[in-house]
Amino acid sequence: MTKPWRASVFSLMPDMFPGPLGLSLSGDGLSRGLWLLDVHDIRDHGIGKHRNVDDSPAGGGPGMVIRADVLAAALDANIANDGRTRLLMSPRGKPLQQARVRELARGEGAIIVCARFEGVDERVIAARGLEEVSIGDYVLSGGEIAAMVLIDACVRLIPGVMGKEASGTEESHENGLLEYPHYTRPREWEGLSIPDVLLSGDHAKIARWRREEAGRITRERRPDMADKPGKNAL
Ligand code: ADE
Repeated sequence: MTKPWRASVFSLMPDMFPGPLGLSLSGDGLSRGLWLLDVHDIRDHGIGKHRNVDDSPAGGGPGMVIRADVLAAALDANIANDGRTRLLMSPRGKPLQQARVRELARGEGAIIVCARFEGVDERVIAARGLEEVSIGDYVLSGGEIAAMVLIDACVRLIPGVMGKEASGTEESHENGLLEYPHYTRPREWEGLSIPDVLLSGDHAKIARWRREEAGRITRERRPDMADKPGKNAL
């Protein structure tokens, strides 16, 4: 049997894990052994009596920077010769997209470093081959929540975690489009009804309506996605 997908997280706030990953679909998958999580406290490799992990930035300026030697020691003690992708959650990283999530989910897992403070000494990023990943153009107070977002997006694609739905090509971002609108009972609610076509029983017509609505919503909300020739069904 192949080994389950494994996330190894390096953090200064290890108690934040598993957090929401321990609940619902990801949590069920975790307890069923469909994926594994191990969390390492970077401070265990801190310097001196106070286990210092950071220092002031070379060249001056505000904030503190995580030391290269400390982070390297944490990584080397736990993941030497590990072939998994090594990620550093950072607002400076390449924006995470569903295509990268799919690639990561298909692999053996990921090693994920969560930064705090101003960031991480640049030298350890290069020396340990960390790929910087951002979950969006805003700044969080640390990489932990970003890591949870990435792990959640990956583990729901692992066979058995969510059943067939997750691989459905109709989901937002799976086909380069946002998803069409959904409705359910009651048929009338606050004077609003379900579009007639969805009650028509005509599956070809319903499929066409959904394609058109997905296109309309994508053009309206995400012109950047709509303008990608060959990347969507428009
Ligand atoms: N750490 C702080 N902000 C972040 C972001 N937007 N993405 C990933 N990691 C982060």
